[in-house]
Amino acid sequence: MTAKAWIASHERPSSRIPGFYQLDVRSRHRELAQRFDLTDEELDLLRGTGVDGVAIADKMVENCVGVLRLPIGLGLNFQVNGRDYVVPMAVEEPSVVAAASNMARLIRASGGFSAWASESLMIAQVQVLAIDDPVRARVAIERAADRVLDVANQRHPNMVARGGGAKALEVRLLDSEPRMLVIHLLVDCRDAMGANIVNDMAEGVAPLIEEVSGGRVRLRILSNLADRRLARARCAIREALLARQGREGPAVAEGVVEAYRFAAADPYRAATHNKGVMNGIDAVGIATGNDWRGIEAGAHAYAARNGRYEPLTRWWRKDGYLHGEIELPMAVGTVGGSTRVQPTLRVLQKLLGAETAQELAMVMSAVGLAQNLGALCALATEGIQRGHMNLHARSVALAAGVSHDRIDDVAAKLVRIGDFSASAARRFAETD
Ligand code: MEV
Repeated sequence: MTAKAWIASHERPSSRIPGFYQLDVRSRHRELAQRFDLTDEELDLLRGTGVDGVAIADKMVENCVGVLRLPIGLGLNFQVNGRDYVVPMAVEEPSVVAAASNMARLIRASGGFSAWASESLMIAQVQVLAIDDPVRARVAIERAADRVLDVANQRHPNMVARGGGAKALEVRLLDSEPRMLVIHLLVDCRDAMGANIVNDMAEGVAPLIEEVSGGRVRLRILSNLADRRLARARCAIREALLARQGREGPAVAEGVVEAYRFAAADPYRAATHNKGVMNGIDAVGIATGNDWRGIEAGAHAYAARNGRYEPLTRWWRKDGYLHGEIELPMAVGTVGGSTRVQPTLRVLQKLLGAETAQELAMVMSAVGLAQNLGALCALATEGIQRGHMNLHARSVALAAGVSHDRIDDVAAKLVRIGDFSASAARRFAETD
């Protein structure tokens, strides 16, 4: 079905494209062009031969001298709340896209992901110091809440017209030295990530807050601990589907749960567990032009919200199913930011088809859950090195200077002998 027909019928092209990984890049492009109605110009952008080069980059950062490219892979098989998503992932680590796609296939066979996202509320923080009577100042600011919200919203009438804007104000009294008040403006950013609007509002309300509190404002900036902008995804996989490497499905499921318990009990393990979650989430964040450093900061701060660093996912067994859940802040947008300036991002957005920020947040949380499952299944069974090195072999051959037409052949030989050194790659390239 072409993209036009799909829009007309409100159906999406299936994210299940069997054998996609066996095609060469040209055939994959042909497949995408058909399914998503991509133009030649759009395909040129994916090929890296389009207009998306240094000229645009030069308008984005200071002292620009070039662009660094990352591979874009498609996470396939994703079905979230009954909708199919082909998920662009920009990442250099070899096994990330394959693992996410494989796990999404198993989850799809058990009914797919169910996901939820909150409103797109960001927090703007305003720090107030030098207050003689913090309790009185707090009451004064709370009484002036409507005026503060008005001042914030007058600066962004378009956001207000879209149903967003500053919605509420909260005052926190920090037990710090010196004591300080921190005002939180809760700003609904709709489909934008919203950093610029939120920071502008924080700066814009500062004079009024000084006037009302009698204090002195210092910092005015958003918080990346976006715990009013959460996303959650769940899945339940028939355990029989998890069988691998001669191991029964229930044994693999038990291994995943034991791996989860390790992360729940030990921050050293939880950090690595969450790194695996973020392998997938960051890859989608980058491919959708979002601020992945902000997403990372929010995820890790949220993981520590109970006073110790914990895993972002949870796994348990019940009634023949392995159940998984993830919840984390997801400050992402589908409009504004670099999506406006980089044409390649628009092509990837077209493939993904997530129109709202909430839809994108749900898909990203599902990817994080799938990625975590892939890592835990491998770790709990054969370990990650074999699968990882099998995929890494091609990069080894490339880095060793093997000619392009020999790379797959040399990589297959490296895998066969289990030696992934550059010297082995060169030896095969020279002798065969
Ligand atoms: C590697 O990039 C990610 C893993 O270390 C995640 C994990 O240990 O759960 C495999």
